[in-house]
Amino acid sequence: MAVIESSAPGKIILFGEHAVVYGRPAIAVPVTEVQVIVTAEPAPKDSGLTLVALELGESVPLSTAMQDNPLAAAARLTLARLCAPEPDATLIISSTIPIASGLGSGTAVSTALVRTLAGFLGHTLEAAEVSRLVFEVEKIHHGTPSGIDNTVIAYEQPVYFVREQPIEQLSVRTPFTLLIGDTGTRSPTKKVVEHLRRNRKRNPARYDALFDQIGDIVDEAREAIETGSIGRLGPLMDDNHELLIELGVSSKKLDELVEAARFAGAMGAKLSGAGRGGNMIALVEDDVTEELAEALGEAGAKRVIRTRVGEW
Ligand code: MEV
Repeated sequence: MAVIESSAPGKIILFGEHAVVYGRPAIAVPVTEVQVIVTAEPAPKDSGLTLVALELGESVPLSTAMQDNPLAAAARLTLARLCAPEPDATLIISSTIPIASGLGSGTAVSTALVRTLAGFLGHTLEAAEVSRLVFEVEKIHHGTPSGIDNTVIAYEQPVYFVREQPIEQLSVRTPFTLLIGDTGTRSPTKKVVEHLRRNRKRNPARYDALFDQIGDIVDEAREAIETGSIGRLGPLMDDNHELLIELGVSSKKLDELVEAARFAGAMGAKLSGAGRGGNMIALVEDDVTEELAEALGEAGAKRVIRTRVGEW
């Protein structure tokens, strides 16, 4: 059997994180500058399936992996979907996506793993099928995920997403550039989402009103993206960030990086993903990208990624 390889990109949420868990829309785009690659190699007869995560230094035989191990869950769900017995193979996972930083590292690992294992068994799964399987794995990682991460990563397209609704692909009329600045603080999505859930329980009216305002921003941003009105996006990002602060999911470091980006001339900036750490994003004009990346570095960003949205 031949060696099979698949990849999956990272992602960022442009608008609407957290509110999307409560039924409001959100916009997310793939980030192809970072990737997970999963390679499948045939293994000796009766050795079963082994999952090797290079960056984590882990090698886990499927037969002994815990039920809640997300790599094993992705493999088991794929085998069940294809009604296939465990093959003799080694799946080698390598990634350039920083872990727990809002860039969808875990989701991308599951996505590439599902694709590669299916490919090794002679199947090609549709994006919708991959997304559905990865969503099952997400529930182990995140508890109550909205489904936006698996959708944008499996489809590798900008999406306008509403929980439990058919996916709507977003057409980007005029491509634009974003800088992604990493606080270097890891932030497990599950914890932040659970914390927000507890706070909302105490005061649902306040939180639902904030979610509604975020939903309105998302709809305005969608129109701006689809009509190529990029100038409107910056202020919308700023407004979305303020609402995320009010939700209690920002952090001192995120606010500092957002401020530094605006001060250095970004058209707008906000945290992206679960918050409390992880990444922020800044909308930048192409001629100031370098200065802005430098300003983010000086303000303490551990890493800055430049990505173009809408250019494939
Ligand atoms: C995480 O990328 C986005 C959140 O809205 C969680 C989710 O949608 O499941 C924070």
